[in-house]
Amino acid sequence: MKKINIALLGLGTVGTGVVNILEENKAQLEKTMDALISIKHIYVKNIKKDRAINTELYHLTDDINDILNDETLDIVVEVMGGIDQTYGYLKHLMTNGVHVITANKDMLAVHLEELETLAGNKEISLKYEASVAGGIPIVNAINNGLNANGIKHFMGIFNGTSNFILSKMSIDGLSFDEALAIATELGYAEADPTADVDGIDAQRKVVITSFLAFNKYITLEDCVVQGIREVSSLDMRLAAKLGYSIKLIGQAYLDHDRIEASVKPTCLPLSHQLSHVNYEYNAIYIDGSAVGDTMYYGKGAGSLATGSAVVSDLLHVIRYIDTKLHTLPPHFEIESKELLRKKH
Ligand code: HSE
Repeated sequence: MKKINIALLGLGTVGTGVVNILEENKAQLEKTMDALISIKHIYVKNIKKDRAINTELYHLTDDINDILNDETLDIVVEVMGGIDQTYGYLKHLMTNGVHVITANKDMLAVHLEELETLAGNKEISLKYEASVAGGIPIVNAINNGLNANGIKHFMGIFNGTSNFILSKMSIDGLSFDEALAIATELGYAEADPTADVDGIDAQRKVVITSFLAFNKYITLEDCVVQGIREVSSLDMRLAAKLGYSIKLIGQAYLDHDRIEASVKPTCLPLSHQLSHVNYEYNAIYIDGSAVGDTMYYGKGAGSLATGSAVVSDLLHVIRYIDTKLHTLPPHFEIESKELLRKKH
């Protein structure tokens, strides 16, 4: 049985979910993977903060160099957020052959192309299932489940907080401010809800999904964005009378070589399935050339939902490391085994 050394960057909501899932399922996961999975370091910004895990079992550090200079690491799981500095850390690690799993849509929406290119050049894994729609396995659905299809269009509800607010307005008759206050109280909206209510969070997810669906990169500027602050209770009531719902819809079309992408409040007929996706739920609708319409529905956020996507990526990577060792030609196999011996 081989040993896989992991470092976790960040121990907030998602990081805690990852540790809990790994701890609770340790025996079964290790048996299935035929690997000992060891979290060697957890990087946190504030080492004194109380944590929802048993910290005595782990090496918590506030020195990123413990991770950047550890040559025994196989996989780094990044769930700490931040854009340019985090990108710098991941680039350094990937350059040194470390596989990366990240949930960081803010960073990916800006640096996806560089990181994908680096991963390709170094023949290592870069996985980011948790970055779009949290617990919904949408990255896998597009990359694997739909890979026999051409995709020309996708649309969806990519942000749970704004969907929660719109649902509270339409179903419970609340004003935007009342609904936002409840979303904040329940922990859906951050203290600064800008990214959620102004459509920026959904815009980042549309940029990432466009790459997955069309195999083409777009920038944030290529995706027109409008949030939900201007949607009033009156708009909601009028739309309902006319047989529509108002949803914050992110979508993109591939038209020959051009991608048209947007995030904006959209009137959907009540007969459309996305009209019935309410509260904190996300759903993404994809039209595949062979399969036709498909829709994916589930929780887009939360410790365990998002943690489950991260751990799923982790298991894929562990399997990939396995496959690579077992299928490469003999001289590579010897080299890989030597490398592994050196590393462990
Ligand atoms: N803030 C996001 C949402 C969750 O409300 O959907 C993380 O992507």
